[in-house]
Amino acid sequence: MNVTVSRELTLSSIDHLYVLVTEEMNLDLPARLRQRIERAVADSGFEGRSDESITILASTPRKITLIGLGKAEKVSHRGLRASIYALGKLARRNRDKKIGVAVCASFPSAVAEASTRLAADLLAHSDYKYDAFITSKEKKSRVDSACTLVAPSSLDRRAVARVAAQSSILAAAVRTVKDLGNGPGNTVTPAQLARRAQEVARESGIRCTVFDKKQIQKMKMGGLLAVNRGSAQEPRFIVLEYVPAGRRPKKTVCLVGKGITFDSGGISLKPGDRMEEMKFDMCGAAAVIGTLQAAAKLKLPHRIIGLIPATENLPSGTAYKPGDIVTTMSGKTIEVINTDAEGRVVLSDALTYSARFKPDHLIDYATLTGACVVALGAEATGLFSTDDELAARLVAAGEEVGERLWRMPVWDEYRDYIKSEWADMKNSGGRVAGAISASMFLKEFVTCPSWAHLDIAGTAWADTENAREAKGATGVGVRATVRFLEELA
Ligand code: BES
Ligand code: MN
Ligand code: ZN
Repeated sequence: MNVTVSRELTLSSIDHLYVLVTEEMNLDLPARLRQRIERAVADSGFEGRSDESITILASTPRKITLIGLGKAEKVSHRGLRASIYALGKLARRNRDKKIGVAVCASFPSAVAEASTRLAADLLAHSDYKYDAFITSKEKKSRVDSACTLVAPSSLDRRAVARVAAQSSILAAAVRTVKDLGNGPGNTVTPAQLARRAQEVARESGIRCTVFDKKQIQKMKMGGLLAVNRGSAQEPRFIVLEYVPAGRRPKKTVCLVGKGITFDSGGISLKPGDRMEEMKFDMCGAAAVIGTLQAAAKLKLPHRIIGLIPATENLPSGTAYKPGDIVTTMSGKTIEVINTDAEGRVVLSDALTYSARFKPDHLIDYATLTGACVVALGAEATGLFSTDDELAARLVAAGEEVGERLWRMPVWDEYRDYIKSEWADMKNSGGRVAGAISASMFLKEFVTCPSWAHLDIAGTAWADTENAREAKGATGVGVRATVRFLEELA
């Protein structure tokens, strides 16, 4: 959906107005329109409960639909996400071409700007569909609708201009992530992922360096090479670097993303059921690319580095095997117990590589464990951190954009789970506390005192449509990380 943000709404130019409103019914709208709606509400018994909606037939615009948000004190950004997604679906079903949207919820004024930005960004995604490979005309032809989001009256002209510019930057970055994530494994190969990273870098003024297999061998990235051995596709190691123009960067932040473009499990082959979903195993990498895209376009004041180890994980006669011992770039050795625990193996080298940037904060994004999905489902990203303040900031940033993060422990006791008889550690700690033992493994390669690991296995894609989004890649990570970086002093 094409979204513009504006202080005024030209009613004659839209054919359907959608108003999201809480039970308190504070309609922040021009007086005549407000009165019109208040009359209809009184007649209809509409109470603004969440999920409740009514459509009023009017003259200009012809239709007004009210969607309830529930009690004001309970309105969350997560709730807003669901309401806006529902709105987008309704508009599609109604085949509206031009809609107006007003969000009449009194978010604290400090966050009104951020909320409006989020609303605009979400609206832009409310009709997102990955249709690059749909050839049938009927399936592809969707009404291309335009939307005007009415800014709350508390925002001045300059704030509205900022919201308009920033929301489109964010929506574009999230689109980058979704398109990469939804892209099939035969087109989103490590080389293609790298090429896309280079394209994004070129468009956004970021430096991008792509290392090929030879250079990866030279750097002795034994983890990435081991996982790559089963694949006919060469690996890539992608480095993105954004440096703010004309100023000393406030902070240096390294973002690392798992870039397994397809995860079959390797020799420890996964069951066939739903294996196709493992094309999403590069969503961490995509989140890093999208975050850098947004950060550069928003001209954030930090130096931000993106690091992506990219390979497929496939079985073959040359594939790495259970029992193999791999020497990583750090010099530490790994006993391979399960070739399906490949994410941590490739991330080990990227985490080691990150040390050369001496980051103030190191954050990694990975669809790392099924165990995290068992623990949290699709409702929250697993957060593992050695820095309480960083963890708290990430949780708060996530809350503001409707991306939940839930912290889990990385206590030393769990280190025992990955003890190996034959090497410095083993790559699987078994079923118990699987998301935590995976984090303990990563921690072995972290030297930055402020580290956070985000296990996005349950949140990177929706396996079916849910209340907040369509099936497929969600773009998780971008909005929360951008919010975190914006607040970082
Ligand atoms: N990419 C998977 C994790 C995953 C599974 C993400 C399902 C989303 C949905 C990862 O590489 C993996 O296979 N992990 C194993 C680790 C185990 C062998 C220790 C897992 O979770 O089963
Ligand atoms: Mn795996
Ligand atoms: Zn994987």
